[in-house]
Amino acid sequence: MIEFQLQTLLEARHVVVFTGAGVSAESGIPTFRDALTGLWSRFDPAALATPEAFRKDPALVWGWYEWRRSKVLAASPNAAHLAIAELARRVPKLTVITQNVDDLHERAGSRDVIHLHGSLHAPRCFACTRPYAGSLDPLNEPEEGRSLEPPRCHRCNGKIRPGVVWFGESLPAQAWREAMAAAEDCDLLLSIGTSGLVQPAAQIPRMARARGATVVHVNLQPESVEGDNEFSLVGRAAEILPGLLGGGEKKYCE
Ligand code: APR
Repeated sequence: MIEFQLQTLLEARHVVVFTGAGVSAESGIPTFRDALTGLWSRFDPAALATPEAFRKDPALVWGWYEWRRSKVLAASPNAAHLAIAELARRVPKLTVITQNVDDLHERAGSRDVIHLHGSLHAPRCFACTRPYAGSLDPLNEPEEGRSLEPPRCHRCNGKIRPGVVWFGESLPAQAWREAMAAAEDCDLLLSIGTSGLVQPAAQIPRMARARGATVVHVNLQPESVEGDNEFSLVGRAAEILPGLLGGGEKKYCE
């Protein structure tokens, strides 16, 4: 049995916390692959999350993202988000890199979060790319499964789109540069609640490992790990992260 302890965490010079949908799951935010529940279940998420889908039926795509945004507005950061924000107060340097498009890390107190896949809270014009200047009415709860006509750009009258990265689109260049720099500089990386299926984001933990950082996976499923400085902590992020901060030793089989 090998133990990964809080001490290892607190001795780090620069910690990177790399998160996926699993860190928000316990706030009630469906992960991407189970986001289409109920009346949305008749759609394939990968088919909705594309520029082509928006061109073909902007109201359907906008309706789905507004439904997802309403879920985020109704949710609260969970103990994992709060533990990550607390950890930043206990180590010299901490960088949060997320694949999530919600703002739960920010609402838990994390700062300068790097959003590799954009954000539900940064809508912009599909035509001229200017950020949307209007306020999205958070009160008119989008009905599940219903289309919603997107608002129009105040400058060019183009249709407003979600500020997320769709399949087939490039990641925001600055976010990707910052994420790579942090992965290559850190000496410890926590990879929390991600399936590691989507590129290039999934390269971040590998970049850190290649530079000799310790990598710790936190997931419901065990991760295959190699060598002395890669670990797999199996369980719920909202239980494991507070446990680590509370000094709990996570015992596990390597
Ligand atoms: N605690 C820890 N891990 C969890 C929890 C939890 N409470 N709940 C789920 N998980 C794990 C699942 O086991 C899974 O490995 O979180 C992971 C979620 O995987 P995905 O749904 O594939 O989400 P993610 O890895 O973030 O997807 C990456 O792909 O779908 C696109 O753009 C989308 O940003 C997303 C990207």
